[in-house]
Amino acid sequence: MTYTETDLTAAIESLSGTALATLTQEQRDQLDQFHAGGPDAVERLLPGLSLAPAMTVLDVGSGFGGPARQVARRVGCRVLGVDITPAYVDLARALTEATEAADQVRFACADVGTLERSDFDAAYTMHVQMNVADKKTFYADIASRLRPGGRFAIFEVCRTGDAEPAPPLPWSLDGTDSHLVTPDALRATIEGAGFELLEWVDETGWVREWFDDVPARMAAAGTRATLPALLDDGMTRTLNFAVAVANDVVSVYRATFSRA
Ligand SMILES: C[S@@+](CC[C@H](N)C(=O)[O-])C[C@H]1O[C@@H](n2cnc3c(N)ncnc32)[C@H](O)[C@@H]1O
Repeated sequence: MTYTETDLTAAIESLSGTALATLTQEQRDQLDQFHAGGPDAVERLLPGLSLAPAMTVLDVGSGFGGPARQVARRVGCRVLGVDITPAYVDLARALTEATEAADQVRFACADVGTLERSDFDAAYTMHVQMNVADKKTFYADIASRLRPGGRFAIFEVCRTGDAEPAPPLPWSLDGTDSHLVTPDALRATIEGAGFELLEWVDETGWVREWFDDVPARMAAAGTRATLPALLDDGMTRTLNFAVAVANDVVSVYRATFSRA
């Protein structure tokens, strides 16, 4: 079982030596974007989502809420984040309380399949399906929460060939909850769940460069409250992910779809 960290607010305040509410945006960027690429990866998703201020957007597997707050801040829209890990939803709410996006962003501790709404204008999911064995149901659940024509964007990790990356990984401590598939299999599953492909981009090269710059970014942030410091075995998990990307064992894809 992964995602076992608890009382993350206390951990951040202890590591940073400051109250959650006084963290700067640059400091939050170091700890609340639980995917390769940080806030820049969210920026890459935004054009394909075609968002407008009046829209309501669904973030599936919202983690600590960094992407949801960024989307709300950049677009002026509303965002609902759903995630199945209670401690992560607690932190997402606490971090949001401390920002100007507080009245635009909400979080629910829920499986997307339990949501009653079916009128979201758009949805996205970042670094989540690696944990999902039944991807067909996962994407069909997302499709049925979107209005017809609504955009759906992903930023996801695939295995490049037959080899599996060595655990521990950011999404799996021991490999038992890692369910990687090839890019072709992922794309076919999403299309089969009721989506039409608009854009499919291999971002592995860009992610490799992003990993190369991790030490410099951490040094520049001037805080010890970074994502790897917050996660159990976080440094090893981050390093193993970077090595798997560098060795082409895993690849990272960004894609945009439209709900058919
Ligand atoms: C690697 S983190 C990514 C978090 C966030 N998307 C981000 O990029 O910052 C994976 C997240 O997916 C969540 N998750 C895993 N399986 C899920 C599922 N079936 N439904 C919703 N969330 C899920 C975990 O609780 C965790 O917060």
